[in-house]
Amino acid sequence: MPEDWVRIFDTTLRDGEQSAGVNLNTAEKIQIAHQLAKLRVDIIEAGFPAASPGDMEAVSTIAREVRGPVIAGLARTRPADIEAAAEAVRHAEKPRIHTFIATSPIHMEHKLKMTPDQVLEEVRRAVTQARSFVDDVEFSAEDASRSEIDFLVKVYSLAIECGATTLNIPDTVGYAAPDEFGRFVKAILDGVKAPPEIIWSVHCHNDLGLAVANSLEAVRAGVRQVECTVNGLGERAGNASMEEIVMALRTRPDRYGVASRLETSRLYSTSKLVSRLTGVLVPPNKAIVGENAFAHEAGIHQHGILCNRATYEIMKPEDVGAPGTALVLGKHSGRHAFLKRLEALGFELDDDQKEKAFRLFKDLCDRKKTVSDGDIEALVVDEVLAVVPERRFELKEYSVQVAGRGRASASITLRDGTSEVTDAAAGNGPVDAAYSAIRRLVGISPELTSYRIQATSERSDAMGEAVITLRLGDLKAQGRGASTDVIEASIKAYVSAVNRLYALAAAKGEVLNGENAG
Ligand code: KIV
Ligand code: ZN
Repeated sequence: MPEDWVRIFDTTLRDGEQSAGVNLNTAEKIQIAHQLAKLRVDIIEAGFPAASPGDMEAVSTIAREVRGPVIAGLARTRPADIEAAAEAVRHAEKPRIHTFIATSPIHMEHKLKMTPDQVLEEVRRAVTQARSFVDDVEFSAEDASRSEIDFLVKVYSLAIECGATTLNIPDTVGYAAPDEFGRFVKAILDGVKAPPEIIWSVHCHNDLGLAVANSLEAVRAGVRQVECTVNGLGERAGNASMEEIVMALRTRPDRYGVASRLETSRLYSTSKLVSRLTGVLVPPNKAIVGENAFAHEAGIHQHGILCNRATYEIMKPEDVGAPGTALVLGKHSGRHAFLKRLEALGFELDDDQKEKAFRLFKDLCDRKKTVSDGDIEALVVDEVLAVVPERRFELKEYSVQVAGRGRASASITLRDGTSEVTDAAAGNGPVDAAYSAIRRLVGISPELTSYRIQATSERSDAMGEAVITLRLGDLKAQGRGASTDVIEASIKAYVSAVNRLYALAAAKGEVLNGENAG
């Protein structure tokens, strides 16, 4: 009988990365995977190796470098997919192949164009093939919640017969309702004669805002693996949010009677890291990790909290690693205080990175009286950890003039390899003018598909952090930049995205030049 705990299967790097507008490079995925390992998730689904060479590279690098959790690679039932997943997870300490096929009438008829018997045959072949590579095989019946129970019982029984060790019941389209899903899961668990070492799992999407509730009902029905993502990222409305599931299990043992093994005090820093690297903001009222999750505004609540925290607080901020009172650093702060703060924010840097971060922090202190946590995070994520494989262009200088009524002109100097190039352009506002000048300099005209700028704290001298996405043909790259000057932050973000486009093109053996516009 397996020990009783709820395994946390994190799919931030696979389903989470399928969120619209999210595009992580390998270095960013590795950073997130290391953080997930520190959080002590049980399984990291690192990607879908057959989907692209980039996914293959990311999954195999994570498999090689990240120790602790099981590393899973996703595969359709196609033989080539399973071979790719096996190759990608080959060097993992604990490799898993996760294979899936749809089982609902609508998917079988309209998407797969297969009969139920053909689907059963795919399951037999795929699970058997996956087991020839690894001992740990997960099988998912896609769109299970809209499938017929009798068919699912046949499918899962066959998967067990062929060697699957984890069986996953996805609510792929987020259609289920909690009480109904709990009964559905129970009926499957009762119908399949699974040996006790088999782990049942669920994977719930959030189209009706019920993913966490459905996952928790499934735990009550007997599943011991929950698939989820940091901040609830994922396809469409997202997946079940990991932090909400984990803290519900921990806060309500009376109801669930089983917990996860996560180091919950790392939930907040993990959420922050994922938000910064994906560019997807966490709403302030988001449960567990939102800025206001532990803020008590009403006088009556504050009074209660001062008398006894339990009057209005069911969890302590420190349980999830949320900062109680933000410590403010400034030019009198020394290296020790700064490094302690980095640690509290969840960053683990090597000596060179610490040195660089401290130097940038000191530079920032010359421009700002106080430096907030947000400023430090922006500096570290955008300037220290940002990995651009080939930093082809670098911003040297810029100037902008605003002529009124939005008309502006900008002059930009970039370093391109060893030479410096300068050009100027006019535009509708300083950022538009600067972006036109950069386009002239770099010789490509990517489409700007998203542009966001946010302050790193609530003070008027806060740093501005710009996050943009550029598209050029089928290449898509995100860029980030931070500065106390929002125009400089926007320019840095654009230059960083252009560098990434060049790197992506080089990885695909393509050459970017001239009007290769998207
Ligand atoms: O939503 C889904 O069904 C999936 C499967 C691949 C598990 O993501
Ligand atoms: Zn999914």
